[in-house]
Amino acid sequence: MDFRIGGQLEVRRLGFGAMHLPTEAGPAREEAIAVVRRAVELGVTLIDTAHLYGGGANEELLASALYPYPAGLVITTKVGVARTGPGGEWRLDARPEILRDQVEQALRRLRVERIELLQLHRIDPETPLADQLGTLRELQTAGKVGLLGLSEVTVDELVRAREIVDVASVQNRYNVLDREHEPVLRACAEAGIAFLPWRPIAPIGGAAIGAIAVELGATAAQVSLAWLLARSPVILPIPGTGRIAHLEENLAAAELVLTPAQRRRLTGPDLAEIEACFADILSGRISRDAADRWAGRWLSDDFRHEIDLDEDQRWALDLLAGIDLPDWPGPGFLHSEDQIRGWRDEVRRRRG
Ligand SMILES: NC(=O)c1ccc[n+]([C@@H]2O[C@H](COP(=O)([O-])OP(=O)(O)OC[C@H]3O[C@@H](n4cnc5c(N)ncnc54)[C@H](OP(=O)(O)O)[C@@H]3O)[C@@H](O)[C@H]2O)c1
Repeated sequence: MDFRIGGQLEVRRLGFGAMHLPTEAGPAREEAIAVVRRAVELGVTLIDTAHLYGGGANEELLASALYPYPAGLVITTKVGVARTGPGGEWRLDARPEILRDQVEQALRRLRVERIELLQLHRIDPETPLADQLGTLRELQTAGKVGLLGLSEVTVDELVRAREIVDVASVQNRYNVLDREHEPVLRACAEAGIAFLPWRPIAPIGGAAIGAIAVELGATAAQVSLAWLLARSPVILPIPGTGRIAHLEENLAAAELVLTPAQRRRLTGPDLAEIEACFADILSGRISRDAADRWAGRWLSDDFRHEIDLDEDQRWALDLLAGIDLPDWPGPGFLHSEDQIRGWRDEVRRRRG
């Protein structure tokens, strides 16, 4: 269950997110240190932090817990969110001088000479993208940074960024109940870019997740993580916890195997399946009514509580429920996003 980020940085796919760890001196910090050490002991080789998390305090905590680092451990940090002044508000700020300064701070706090994977926490809309990424590239050339990643980007931003630098990873919010960034995941999968879903398990919920957890003798968090690992080989979840029991539970999800039927219950029908349904109606294998009921079930409010269909699935199911079937253009039409969009607009136009 390994993945080579940027084709070179080999990590275990199930990592650890350090964001929630308390950093103030005291028993809570000691517990946090114990959690991080246990994570590494259990084979975690990818730990995610950021300058934003405590203004560098989280990076320092990781160094206190783990330095000198074991071979193969990748601590990835993020830059590009800064305070407006001492004690001021945090805001997106990826001006070149801020990025350079935060990277220098991270090198010092993490006690490394090079950050193997550095992520731009957010694209700063007020600084030209070429300046933000150009600065990170200069830091790469200077040997202070290895690979580059982005966070919370759209497909369009990813495309534009890739015109400027090699992008090795993308970190967007994504979990079984929240698949808004499915198109970004797809773009990453096509390009072999690592996709680090943040908020991979929270919120824990959904009757389908609970039922599958019972079937497998697992927990809901484990089912959510197993779903992510099965969803795409480029997915590297970074669940976070301040408790050793939760850490052990989360890492054990790497061994959990969902059946294809269980995955479908969590994911909804894929486009090929919806298209097969069109073909079945046309060929008379199933009735139009039966197909409407099938599409209606996935689109129903009840089902929404269970799972969040991604945009393409919703469009395709809308099509199935609403289009004049003689207009069906033939196999393959659901595989092009442009065509799906065109058909969705057409369906909306006809429905008024
Ligand atoms: N790029 C970004 O903009 C961005 C934004 C947010 C986060 N992140 C990164 O992504 C990482 C993960 O995201 P996240 O912390 O938002 O979401 P998450 O890992 O899905 O959820 C963490 C929460 O779930 C709880 N939890 C963990 N394991 C559990 C289990 N087995 N059973 C029940 N509860 C469990 C934790 O509480 P306990 O401590 O009680 O276990 C914590 O409250 C962060 O650590 C951070 O590195 C990135």
